[in-house]
Amino acid sequence: MIYCANPHAQYLPHRDQITEAIQKVLDSGSYILGEEVSTFEKEFAQYLGASFAVGCGSGTDALVLALKALDIGSGDEVIVPSHTAVPTVAAVVMAGATPVYVDIEPNYYTLDANKVEAACSARTRAIIAVHLYGQAAAMDDLIHIAQVRGLRLIEDCAQAAGAEWRGQKLGTMGDIGCFSFFPTKNLGAMGDGGALVCSDESLAARLRRLRQYGWDEQRTSREAGINSRLDELQAAILRVKLHHLTADNNQRRVLAKNYSDALRDYPLEMPTERDGALHVYHLYVVQTAERCAMIEHLKGAAIHAGIHYPVPVHRMEAYSQGDISLPVTDCAANSVLTLPLFPGMDQADQGRVISAMGAYFDK
Ligand SMILES: Cc1ncc(COP(=O)(O)O)c(C=O)c1O
Repeated sequence: MIYCANPHAQYLPHRDQITEAIQKVLDSGSYILGEEVSTFEKEFAQYLGASFAVGCGSGTDALVLALKALDIGSGDEVIVPSHTAVPTVAAVVMAGATPVYVDIEPNYYTLDANKVEAACSARTRAIIAVHLYGQAAAMDDLIHIAQVRGLRLIEDCAQAAGAEWRGQKLGTMGDIGCFSFFPTKNLGAMGDGGALVCSDESLAARLRRLRQYGWDEQRTSREAGINSRLDELQAAILRVKLHHLTADNNQRRVLAKNYSDALRDYPLEMPTERDGALHVYHLYVVQTAERCAMIEHLKGAAIHAGIHYPVPVHRMEAYSQGDISLPVTDCAANSVLTLPLFPGMDQADQGRVISAMGAYFDK
């Protein structure tokens, strides 16, 4: 079976280095918030061109910590897309704030900046820009709206490690950038992990406190925090993988181009690269009106195509706010299809996917 993502294939080429890194941590006797974490934080910040990086337990926690550190909570509203992974919205609710859903742009699957203004109220405090599938949201417009309205801008970079907007790495343009190191992500750990980046030293210090019970240097809680720490093993693994992130992202871009070249004449809505964006293809997503039949056909060829995401978050029981109209989001949810793409995918496997897609249309 060829799957949409394959974290094992992303591990195998670095197996020896990862095993060595793990052994070093096991022998060190330091397992939580030690030297591996602080070194990874420095290296990750340097890679992104950010001033500060703070490791934490997951991408979801990163978003919760970001909201808390910006004093956003009860009574506050946060603009979010509904066409996203659940955690973008779950984090807002966990922080005690209210998500306000805004529709997406049809071509790029990211927040429609033209609809953000109309969704703002006196209670709006922040926008979460999700760089979905590995491509930048409409950053110029969102930064402008945030500045004019005095809103905070949080970047959800869970799917966009290494992606760029006008030559600058995503995560470094808003107040805080939030990353996930879930194993399938572009920079994946061997378990859960996350990080936040920012340019403000006191904000970074507050994030460090909040991730550990609100503790100061004397281990006295100055404010209520949570427990969300990146562990030494994950940090050591991430340090190895960070060296290969640019090459991995380049490989993703080559695989994406192969798909786009081979499939562009079929009746599919292909991924569109935004002018000025460097897309890192966390997911290669097409749109088709024949999704169910296509998935079944691919399954017959031992290919697993995914759906990101079949149910928009505003239509899920836990996060619904009644019957909201988000037509572009609903349309995407009904037609998006993710084709297998991951670093380590060999040409033969990609050829199989392309042939199977061709066979579907040529039947
Ligand atoms: C867009 C987006 N935001 C947030 C998250 C949350 O990350 P994590 O699974 O590490 O909590 C994910 C990953 O699932 C994601 O894809």
